[in-house]
Amino acid sequence: NVMLSWQRTAFHFQPEQNWMNDPNGPLLHKGWYHLFYQYNQESAVWGNITWGHAVSKDLIHWFHLPYAMVPDQWYDVNGVWTGSATILPDGQIIMLYTGDTTDAVQVQCLAYPANLSDPLLIDWVKSPSNPVLFPPPGIGSKDFRDPTTAWLSPGGDKWRITIGSKVNKTGISIVYETSDFIKYDLLDGYLHQVAGTGMWECIDFYPVSLTESNGLDTSVNGAGVKHVMKASMDDDRHDYYALGTYDPIGNKWTPDNPELDVGIGHRYDYGIFYASKTFYDQNKQRRILWGWISESDAEGLDLMKGWACVQSIPRTVVYDQKTGTDLLQWPVEELESLRGDSVEADVKVGPGSVVPVAIDSASQLDVEVSFELDEEAVEAAVPEVGAGYDCTTSGGAANRGVLGPFGILVLADDNLTESTPIYFYVAKGANGKTESHFCADELRSSQAPDVVKTVYGSSVPVVDGEKFTIRSLVDHSIVESFAQGGRRVITSRVYPTKAINGAARVFLFNNATGASITASLKMWKMGSADIRQFPL
Ligand code: FRU
Repeated sequence: NVMLSWQRTAFHFQPEQNWMNDPNGPLLHKGWYHLFYQYNQESAVWGNITWGHAVSKDLIHWFHLPYAMVPDQWYDVNGVWTGSATILPDGQIIMLYTGDTTDAVQVQCLAYPANLSDPLLIDWVKSPSNPVLFPPPGIGSKDFRDPTTAWLSPGGDKWRITIGSKVNKTGISIVYETSDFIKYDLLDGYLHQVAGTGMWECIDFYPVSLTESNGLDTSVNGAGVKHVMKASMDDDRHDYYALGTYDPIGNKWTPDNPELDVGIGHRYDYGIFYASKTFYDQNKQRRILWGWISESDAEGLDLMKGWACVQSIPRTVVYDQKTGTDLLQWPVEELESLRGDSVEADVKVGPGSVVPVAIDSASQLDVEVSFELDEEAVEAAVPEVGAGYDCTTSGGAANRGVLGPFGILVLADDNLTESTPIYFYVAKGANGKTESHFCADELRSSQAPDVVKTVYGSSVPVVDGEKFTIRSLVDHSIVESFAQGGRRVITSRVYPTKAINGAARVFLFNNATGASITASLKMWKMGSADIRQFPL
């Protein structure tokens, strides 16, 4: 449909048409990054799930390849569902995935490349031993899916994986041990469980270094390492992670802070971002996170457009040494190769003002901006008793406080009939300390009907000496925003009708009543990733 064609993204990964959901089995092999993904060959809604496949040299420019796996066996005929890759020390690649059987039972299956010397890994073989795992006793046949990448057992001669499930309303992480990926032993107890969180989909379990800026291979453990546990909560459709300690002998992971446990603490992303998965890039020694970003318009519009959903920009993930309680996510450095013409602005923005940034077309942008709040105003501000601001119930950027909101307006038209504010709100609590929040407000993002518009966000630690910083990736119908170097992330899908292509603009704004801000902005127009079929 020509009318909505401008909504397609230019540098986020998308198939040419139809439906996509979870990223699957990302890996690097012979210089090519491989991304597999949940795909419906037939329509722009979920169903008939097949594994799509694409390759890239830089995680940004992709080539589509033939489907890696289709639902053609009794054990996966209802769908070749989500899975993960493990690269063994001898170079073999193990792909474990969930099959949905003829009877709609969720089973785990093994696949491997037919030819490891093919850098494109075009042909995949499903193991004759499939399925390799059935739901264990006490686990529902529809509650057993999404095996992780394997890590080495303490002895170093076996491998472990975890699979998400639930018992009543308790989300759980089941662990198996194997030496050949065909026969498995169920380990006693659960790696972790959290009451009241429901079904855990797409568990991810990996180490992060407390001291180094590089990523770690999945089997690393020991001093100077924490383990991240992430699960996708089927009940509320968000990806929650927690930092903790892994005891492989006891088969237990323990969160650092039970109040920030999986499913009740931090989210990777406070907007739309689900069923994510990391992999270790053995070449650049980094851990990279992908997530599925769905639509927030009506299903009928997706069918009209002929496509639905994108993948996030791949993000490096590291431990936040400054707070000790967060991860930092940041777009992979390769994205900067798409940066073109740039615009800079350094301005003081008074209370209640909106300042345009001169740019002729702002639908594909990489924006970096930092703000300083006028210190005297912060000191003079009267503490608000029980400040208790919450982006999601705040009513958005139009509601004014003494020290905020301030930020940027993206995908805005000249008259601001449409705009998406990405901003901070600072509140001074009764104890005299300021508390900061990072929000994205979709309420005025579109004049189109049948679009869900939300105010997203979270409180965010702003450590002593830090400015307030935002990086926003604007790509037609998506705004992916990173605060404080990636300590908080919010991804929005927005569907402007006026602020499109050449009519899209950027503004700085300060809607605080009692403070000026000093803004320093640099933004780049972004090229296209030129995603296309591989010339086979
Ligand atoms: C998550 C999920 C997985 C499942 C797959 C099916 O979005 O529901 O649990 O394997 O998608 O497409």
